[in-house]
Amino acid sequence: MAVDYQAAYERERTMRQQAEQLLEDKSRELYTSMQTLEQTLDDLKASQNQLVQTEKMASLGVLAAGVAHEINNPIGYITSNFNSLQEGLKYIQSFIADMQPSIEEEVDAEKIKNLWQQLLKKYDLVYLLEDFIDLSKETSEGLARVKQIVADLRAFTREDKAEKSRVDINDILRGSINILENQTKYHANIVTKLTEIPTVMGFAGKLSQVFTNLISNANQAVDDNGTIHIFTEKADDGIRISVQDNGHGISEDNMKNLFTPFFTTKPIGEGTGLGLSISHGIIEEHGGEILVSSKIDVGTMFTVLIPLSQIVEG
Ligand SMILES: Nc1ncnc2c1ncn2[C@@H]1O[C@H](COP(=O)(O)OP(=O)(O)OP(=O)(O)O)[C@@H](O)[C@H]1O
Ligand SMILES: [Mg+2]
Repeated sequence: MAVDYQAAYERERTMRQQAEQLLEDKSRELYTSMQTLEQTLDDLKASQNQLVQTEKMASLGVLAAGVAHEINNPIGYITSNFNSLQEGLKYIQSFIADMQPSIEEEVDAEKIKNLWQQLLKKYDLVYLLEDFIDLSKETSEGLARVKQIVADLRAFTREDKAEKSRVDINDILRGSINILENQTKYHANIVTKLTEIPTVMGFAGKLSQVFTNLISNANQAVDDNGTIHIFTEKADDGIRISVQDNGHGISEDNMKNLFTPFFTTKPIGEGTGLGLSISHGIIEEHGGEILVSSKIDVGTMFTVLIPLSQIVEG
């Protein structure tokens, strides 16, 4: 009998040891797969960030061509204005050189006055000086335009800081409208109604990416001479930013897929289908949402809602 107990005890001990071993193996396995999962999640997050950056750079590629033109145009007339100013300066130098001897030697005031009048006419100085004023004004405006475009581009490409900061949505919108101007100006009329809204906590570069995509989508949806209304307002639930077009609209079927990565109805090379899915992620990061309403052949309106919680007053 004692032997039986002994055997039973041994059997039970072995089984327990086996079970413990199994448990240990399983938890080790579990731990390893958890680590793999964590690694995969990190990798996924990294590639998502990469994707956002890539999409931004791809849209930047398209923008760059337009922006180069936008900058070239003022540079062109600034250069030509400077040439005219230099030519004009030569006339002024000649006028002074021609006047000089008589100023130094002539005592007859009447003669000096006559020569003055005659030379003014010869070098057309009255017209020249008026022209100088116009040329300088135009040149300053051109320089301001170049400066603005560069500033807007920098805002668009800026890698956002890790923390949100206080941003002015109207300013960001103006920047987006500006850098897209070359694409929109011969195709659509942009009508803005940016009302006074409080600043919000946000990522300026990313928000600029969202608005640039919405406006660019609207521009691609309208026929020549289409209209895009852009407006901001403070509502009860937060700040609303709307981009409304009178373009071809979105079918019910497509509506379901709008925010799916790589969903595009545009020809290869024109759209990657990442704009809205990335915008959706960015607005989510701001605790907000993107609302869409659309009617075929009538138009589409996208509204970004940034909730009250992101608003900083004052
Ligand atoms: N304002 C709009 N009017 C009509 N269709 C739209 C509008 N905005 C988006 N869409 C539809 O949604 C699809 C997805 O838009 P999304 O911005 O995500 O990608 P995309 O514009 O095609 O490409 P990408 O933005 O990556 O260059 C578009 O291909 C288009 O069919
Ligand atoms: Mg797009």
